[in-house]
Amino acid sequence: MICQLIGATKVYPMGDLTVVALRGIDVGVESGEFTAFAGPSGSGKSTALNLIGCLDRPTEGRVMVDGRDVATLTDGALGELRAKRIGFIFQSFNLIPVLTAAENVDLALRLAGVTENRAARVEKSLVDVGLKDLLHRRPAQLSGGQQQRVAIARALVKNPAIIIADEPTANLDSSNGEAILDLMREMNERDGVTFLFSTHDPMVMGRARRVVRLKDGAIVGEERRA
Ligand SMILES: Nc1ncnc2c1ncn2[C@@H]1O[C@H](COP(=O)(O)OP(=O)(O)OP(=O)(O)O)[C@@H](O)[C@H]1O
Ligand SMILES: [Mg+2]
Repeated sequence: MICQLIGATKVYPMGDLTVVALRGIDVGVESGEFTAFAGPSGSGKSTALNLIGCLDRPTEGRVMVDGRDVATLTDGALGELRAKRIGFIFQSFNLIPVLTAAENVDLALRLAGVTENRAARVEKSLVDVGLKDLLHRRPAQLSGGQQQRVAIARALVKNPAIIIADEPTANLDSSNGEAILDLMREMNERDGVTFLFSTHDPMVMGRARRVVRLKDGAIVGEERRA
């Protein structure tokens, strides 16, 4: 098991009230999976991905990564775990606007502490996502689909144990969204890259090999396909 939530609860304070975003969920991801968290808006998908990706801590319950309880790690060790083992892709790409595609990807390697062979790895990952001729463009000079490819390259370049993608196609039109999903699925089948993503788009769900359904902060169903 790469990542696991055990009895994970997340409660957000909201003034005098609280919002229960997750109600004690248990879910794990094994190496090689291509899994989607599906569910309506507000069901807890992003909250669950943020916990699994160690971007946030649970109110109750445990987050395990590589068999280690994340709560026992120092901030430094947690940062290192995140930089080396987890690639994150955001709905709105989150590239750094003043850096080129290649520089954005290289930054992920630097944060992971990689010192050798960086230029070749950056180029290979951008070629792998189909951006061979656009290495030196800045995000504003790229289409949405191209920016999301840079974000995939940035996640992929460090050879993480898992790539977590929160609604990776939400800001793309349907043909670009399909192309991004095809690319992710190809990386999963060809190179064994593990993906965990969220969506409420039936097209995206249809391409997942495992779908975990969330509703009101709880897991309400699960399907697996060949
Ligand atoms: N920082 C926060 N402060 C307060 N409440 C929050 C916060 N983040 C999320 N919530 C609440 O937690 C619940 C789950 O939110 P979450 O973002 O995980 O849902 P989601 O399934 O990702 O929805 P969407 O499909 O709209 O992205 C919602 O009720 C939301 O309003
Ligand atoms: Mg969300």
